[in-house]
Order: sequence, then C-alpha cells, then structure tokens
Amino acid sequence: MKILVIGSGGREHALVWKISQSPKVDKIYCAPGSAAIGDLAEQVAIAPEQIEQLADFAQQENIDLTVVGPELPLTLGITDVFESRGLKIFGPNKAAAQLEGSKAFAKAILDENHIPTAASKTFTDATLAKRYLAQLTAPYVIKADGLAGGKGVVICLDINDTREVVDKILVDKIFGEAGDKLVVEEFLEGEEASFMVLTDGIHILSLASSQDHKRVFDNDQGPNTGGMGAYSPAPVITPAMQQRVLEEIVTPLLSGLKQKRILYRGVIYVGLMITKEGPKVLEFNARFGDPECQPIVMRLKSDLVPLLEATVEGRLNRIQPEWHDDPAVCVVLTAQGYPGSYDKGTEIHGLERLKNWQNGYVFHAGTAWGNSRWLTCGGRVLAVTARASDLETAVKEVYRAVGEISWDGMHYRKDIARRALK
Ligand code: AMP
Ligand code: GLY
Repeated sequence: MKILVIGSGGREHALVWKISQSPKVDKIYCAPGSAAIGDLAEQVAIAPEQIEQLADFAQQENIDLTVVGPELPLTLGITDVFESRGLKIFGPNKAAAQLEGSKAFAKAILDENHIPTAASKTFTDATLAKRYLAQLTAPYVIKADGLAGGKGVVICLDINDTREVVDKILVDKIFGEAGDKLVVEEFLEGEEASFMVLTDGIHILSLASSQDHKRVFDNDQGPNTGGMGAYSPAPVITPAMQQRVLEEIVTPLLSGLKQKRILYRGVIYVGLMITKEGPKVLEFNARFGDPECQPIVMRLKSDLVPLLEATVEGRLNRIQPEWHDDPAVCVVLTAQGYPGSYDKGTEIHGLERLKNWQNGYVFHAGTAWGNSRWLTCGGRVLAVTARASDLETAVKEVYRAVGEISWDGMHYRKDIARRALK
C-alpha cells in the first residue's frame, strides 16, 4: 500500500512511525512532513490546508489511504474533496468535523442529546454576553466558537476581567472569524482525561485512555498549551468509567449526528472532566490528540493500518486491536516562551545519543535539520516517549532520556504522570 499522512508535528511523526512498521505498507508520503519524519517517509511540499493540491497528489501517486493529522484540513472539507474523487481518506467530513470546528455546534448537539456537559449559552452580541456573565458566579469560562489553536478558552476569576475577554473575542476579533460566536460555560471541577474512539459512523472501537497536561508549568500552573505531556492508560478511566463514557456520551453523540444525517468516520477525541456526578464533556476533537497520540500508538501492539482501513470502510465491528499492558509516557520539550512567542533556530544537543534507544522514541514536533544539526523550529519541539512494564519505570526512563537532550532555553514539565503515580 501507499499511504499519505498529512501534517508535520509530533502526532504525525508518531503516526508515520507506527505506519512504517506495517507489513502492508510499501511507501509512505507525508505532506508537508518534517526532516525527522523524512527518515521514515517521503516529504511532499504541500501544506495541510491546500486540500485540492493534496487530492491531485493522491490521485497522481495512486495513494491507497490518506490519514489526516490536524484539524484544519478536516474543517476545510478535505474528506469531502477526497471522497468526491473516489480517494480513501481517514478523518471526518466537513459537517462531522464541526464537532471540533464549532463549540456552539458541539454544545448544541450535546444539549439536544442530553449528554452530560457544562451548562452553557452561546452569544454573538457582546452586551448580551456581558449581561449574562454578570448573573453568574466565578470562575467564568469563556470560549471562542471556532478553531483558535488551543488558545480560545479563557477562565476568569474576576467578573471585571470577563468584559475585556468578551470584547477581545466578539468586538476586536483577536481570533478572527473563530470569534464570531462565543460560548459562556459553567466551570467544572474534577480530573481531566482524554478518551478517543474510532468510529465508522455505526460501530465504535475504544482506544486506550490517556491524560494530557495542558498547563505550561508543573502542578498545572501557567497558561494553557497544546499539551505538555501525556501518559496512557489514565487510571481515572476505570473499566466502569469507560462504560459510562460510551453509554452516556459516545453512543448518544453518534445517534445525534445520525439524526442530523451526518456520518462521522474517524477518531472522536472526547475531552472529559471526571466530576463527582460522573464524566462530562469539555470538548470534542475530530482527530488524534497531540501529544496523547504518541503514548497511545506506542502501546498499540496491532498494526495501525487495518484499523484505519476498517474505520474508512465501515467494518470496525470486525476488528479488535491488541494493546501492550505496559504504560507509556510522553514528555514534551518546548522552546522558551511557549505558548507565547519563542525563538527558532537554536541548536539541539544530544539526540544522537538516543538513536538506538530501546525503550522509547523521540518524536519531533517542531525541529529542522540545518548545517548537519538539529535546530528548534516550533513551540513544542520534541515529544520524548517511553514504554515500560510499570508507570514508575516508564517515567524514570522517559526523564532519563530527556536528560540526554539540551538546548538554550529548553523547557519541560517535571511532573508528567505524577497524578497517576500517587
Ligand atoms: P477546551 O479547549 O475546551 O478543552 O479547554 C481547554 C482547557 O480549559 C480544558 O482542558 C480545561 O482545562 C479548561 N476548561 C475548559 N472548559 C472548562 C470548564 N467548563 N470548566 C473547567 N475547566 C474548563
Ligand atoms: N492535547 C490536546 C489536543 O490535542 O487537543
């Protein structure tokens, strides 16, 4: 088979790494990929949002299956374009991807189907939004409707700060069109977890559970990021909790989509808050989580490609993947300043010492190769991932590997998976 993976980050490196181990696969392309991904796949210089060009390429090269990493091409309708040309593609179509692309859409479908989530109201008018907020008590949760690169959620403790946030989103349009609508949401307390399923629109196949670490500093301090590290499985998702998530969230969600005549094929990422009353939805993503994907693919014993094919072809009921019991942990190394502005082009030291690492792999999230050196080239730079017989050993092993790597301004959290070790 010939496979095209779309994207260039740590998640796509992990997908390419796993796909490259499949005996079914002869050739992998990655658009645009990265220098590190280039060791496993041929890089194609087409950006993820150039969906017509990507379809042209897939047609010319007779690609058997395209796998979409990031959300943007999905919300732009890459799946619709590929399918209209008879090309196989893994990822939901434009209508289905609204689950991630519009928080107002997601909240509406949650409410219509009585799926547990934070109570919310959607606004287009700043005055009405402020008037509503004034009736609530702190903390206040305000979300831009559309895609905002993980920065569209603001939690305020002071009512006076909320007015500025509303104006920035609805009036100043700091997130552009993504801020045409705004969602005000009840604040939920509990432990967060990520739960991903594959679905072909009818059948549901649960993937391993995981937990992300969104804040930039240890002990969940500082601003939200795309994710500073993850581990799988997440002990908070017990088998009983998984059953509840499937029954109370995923199943009614799929029937709600069906009622809207939306066929969802791909991954559904459910961002959960495990509250005292049970699991509640924080958000949906229409793609694999990054960095959750990294430990999850490392725990997948089975070939990933048949799972992706079964999703696209509507026969997920006939496939059952095998997992390693061993937990996996991923620590993200970031550039100084992230999630704010950061420098690029700093030399990274020590990667050569991990080339033949037996117990893990260094996925590249934002690096470049120049003058025979690895250089930083993004906010999230590396996603160092290890698997071991128990979580404590995996944590030790991953931090041992992190200790081999250095650059000026390198930052990472030192408490990844600590919650699960308690
Ligand atoms: P989201 O992009 O919606 O997942 O929001 C990003 C982060 O903001 C989440 O991972 C939570 O940590 C936090 N968050 C979002 N919504 C809520 C809520 N209703 N209550 C408490 N925290 C929230
Ligand atoms: N790690 C959270 C996300 O992928 O959205």
